[in-house]
Amino acid sequence: MGADALGRPAEQSSAVDLISKKPRHFLALMGYLTYAMPECPLYAEPELYDLLFSHPRESASVNDVVRRERIVASERFYLDEANHASGRVLELACGSGRLTVPIAHAGVDIFGVDLSGSMLDAARGKASAAGVPVQFVQADMRRFVLPGRFSAIFIAGNSLLHLLTIEDLTQCFASVRHHLAPRGRFVFDISNPDLRRLARDPNQRYCVLQVNHPQRGEVTLDETAEYDTATQIRHIRWYFSAPTAPDFRVIDYHLRMIFPQELLLLLEAGGFRLETRYGEFPRELFESSSPRQVCICSAKS
Ligand SMILES: C[S@@+](CC[C@H](N)C(=O)[O-])C[C@H]1O[C@@H](n2cnc3c(N)ncnc32)[C@H](O)[C@@H]1O
Repeated sequence: MGADALGRPAEQSSAVDLISKKPRHFLALMGYLTYAMPECPLYAEPELYDLLFSHPRESASVNDVVRRERIVASERFYLDEANHASGRVLELACGSGRLTVPIAHAGVDIFGVDLSGSMLDAARGKASAAGVPVQFVQADMRRFVLPGRFSAIFIAGNSLLHLLTIEDLTQCFASVRHHLAPRGRFVFDISNPDLRRLARDPNQRYCVLQVNHPQRGEVTLDETAEYDTATQIRHIRWYFSAPTAPDFRVIDYHLRMIFPQELLLLLEAGGFRLETRYGEFPRELFESSSPRQVCICSAKS
């Protein structure tokens, strides 16, 4: 297949050229502006992704109890933030609707945006099963155009770390700021980079978690990862194994670490004020040993 001057496959570029006279916001709403963005393989299988956030049982191991508490706390945190907003809420990188659907179920008017068609299909299925109205739009969080403004904009669960360059982050923050209503809140959570983890042997496999899969039985997720200190990108390989199917799925993906002091500069450059930074979802204040940076920001006037 040939490519045009922008490197777009000929098939796709001609489809875009056909509609190039439409206004940009119309194209964004229709998802056409995402044509050049390949879907991350991690998100082509929403059932596998959802396993990572299944609630481990009460009786499970200490690790499972900690994980369950973190998942439940993250759901409660974003629900509280959505209830606190005085108008419409936008969740960018909403994935399979893990947070979007319960928030809509609580009566909040919420939009979900994601790059992945498969994740959005799963989210639409969950919203329809729950009987709640959610508008899902396929778009890139770096450059989306939606009608109106939002009282709160969320980017949850490390999704911001999928943006691998300062330019990507700058574009995303500009789009968020453009869509934020006066006195609106921009809320996101990302890891607090753990130097011991980043310095791990890239050839060593580490167990991330074990979960029960309805068909495959106990599924183990291992990872290897190599951290590039120049780009701050962690190149990760995930290995999903079942008792009878070792490494039945191997997935590569990449996350760019954002260090705490760098985040202040990025937000400042993007026109945001960091109002509060928590170190975990139960709203403990952020400190050097905190696992996460859970941030609530407002737009600078
Ligand atoms: C870790 S999942 C988080 C999903 C959801 N926020 C949650 O907490 O369950 C990351 C999501 O980000 C989406 N994503 C990655 N890059 C994106 C981009 N540039 N624009 C919009 N969504 C993106 C992926 O498709 C995926 O659904």
